[in-house]
Amino acid sequence: MPHAADLVIANGTVVTETATFTASIAVRDGLIAAIGADADMPPAAERIDAAGLHVLPGVIDVHVHFREPGMTHKEDWETGSRAAAMGGVTTVFEMPNTNPPVHDVETFTLKHDLAAAKSCVDFGIYGVLAETNLADLAPLAEAGVIGFKLFLGNTTGNLPCPSDGAVLEGFEILSRLGLRCSIHAENSPILFWREDRLKAAGRNTAADHLLARTDVVALEALSKSCLFAEWTGARIHIVHESCARSLPYISFYKERGVDVTVETLPQYLLLALEDMDGPAGNVMRMNPPIRERWQQGPLTEAFASGLIDMIATDHAPHTPEEKQGASIWDIACGFPGVETQLPLMLTLASEGAFSLERYVQASSAAPARAWGLHGTKGCITPGADADLVLVDLARTETLSAARLQSRGKVSPFEGMKVKGWPVATLVRGKPVMRDGEILGEKGWGRAVRPAMPAPAPRNVDTQLATLCGASPAQAPAR
Ligand code: DOR
Ligand code: ZN
Repeated sequence: MPHAADLVIANGTVVTETATFTASIAVRDGLIAAIGADADMPPAAERIDAAGLHVLPGVIDVHVHFREPGMTHKEDWETGSRAAAMGGVTTVFEMPNTNPPVHDVETFTLKHDLAAAKSCVDFGIYGVLAETNLADLAPLAEAGVIGFKLFLGNTTGNLPCPSDGAVLEGFEILSRLGLRCSIHAENSPILFWREDRLKAAGRNTAADHLLARTDVVALEALSKSCLFAEWTGARIHIVHESCARSLPYISFYKERGVDVTVETLPQYLLLALEDMDGPAGNVMRMNPPIRERWQQGPLTEAFASGLIDMIATDHAPHTPEEKQGASIWDIACGFPGVETQLPLMLTLASEGAFSLERYVQASSAAPARAWGLHGTKGCITPGADADLVLVDLARTETLSAARLQSRGKVSPFEGMKVKGWPVATLVRGKPVMRDGEILGEKGWGRAVRPAMPAPAPRNVDTQLATLCGASPAQAPAR
């Protein structure tokens, strides 16, 4: 007689990155204990009948802004993590552009303790890679950041873009730590220059926001990031890829063996400049911008093929007031997404844009692999955390910003019809959402720690630490 289980999820259609099959899943002590025929499952304290439903690994969203500490009028760990639970997301990686930004161990610990007390889903916390904290990168890695974030383009919180010298030295340091660096790849000097010229010329539409950040702004930053990663051996991740013209550069550097992973967002596959006349342009204002409709096809194909590795959301809530203003240049950038990614992407899958297995790879397995969590998270195998989402692929719904758990109740997906809906989310075996009701308690979420492969630094003989010793706490005087 097998050991009793805490829970059996019975007779669902299990989807992994390689297969789809009918099975029951037994959960014990938060882990997947067995997968197989229902008759072979151990007796369980509780059963969930999943017949007619699909069982996917919980989504790992590697790009959310939960705004706490410092901007809790937009979101906090409680509302943000409830939004995640509602959307089938079981682990989030949270960005460092809060107030204070996560730039040293003290600010990391502050955010970690807030998240641990308030989140109902598991979480990783990014540290920032800035010009002024190179000496803090190793202590942050030791303290347990999931990885680092480099803002080459400007963002909420106005973190300045580091000089190329500091970026290269930062990559040298990260190449020896082995952690991945997520990069907002837009060139700040070009975009600020163009924005100033456009403003001075009185230009003020959604199209002008895009023109300030026209494709070359992304191409330059992508190319430089990959070049520096190749030179140093640093592992990098390109966040929110929006640009079809980036695709040949991504293939080129991947073929050269650079450890670069790439995410895109549902909005770049589904929304377009052509939809942005009038107030809709304000709602959709974000960075990098939503681009022309012709770019959607190539991006979707690159997602389907795996050239774009994964899907994330850049969940970036703001208040309705902040999403309004006299001029496009005054509108806060970004909008919520953590709870709408799964239904939007299931809808694309239902239309044949990519398979469900490929979706599962992009939403769960690829993030887990890239951040050293595979085996524990992002997969449905015995011994892994029982992070699961049950979805009803037949269910149609109409998205509505008013229904979001997020504080940011402005969404460009308002009124959109979707097919495929999460009906239960389990984090380490515990239902945190069931039938649209949040069951997850504050503090159930736990920090995840990356177990990356051994670092693979390159050109170590030219690294500044080799030549000059430890990196400076401050930029050198010039
Ligand atoms: O539109 C954006 N908003 N893009 C980003 O990269 C950051 C985000 C935010 O934090 O508001
Ligand atoms: Zn972001």
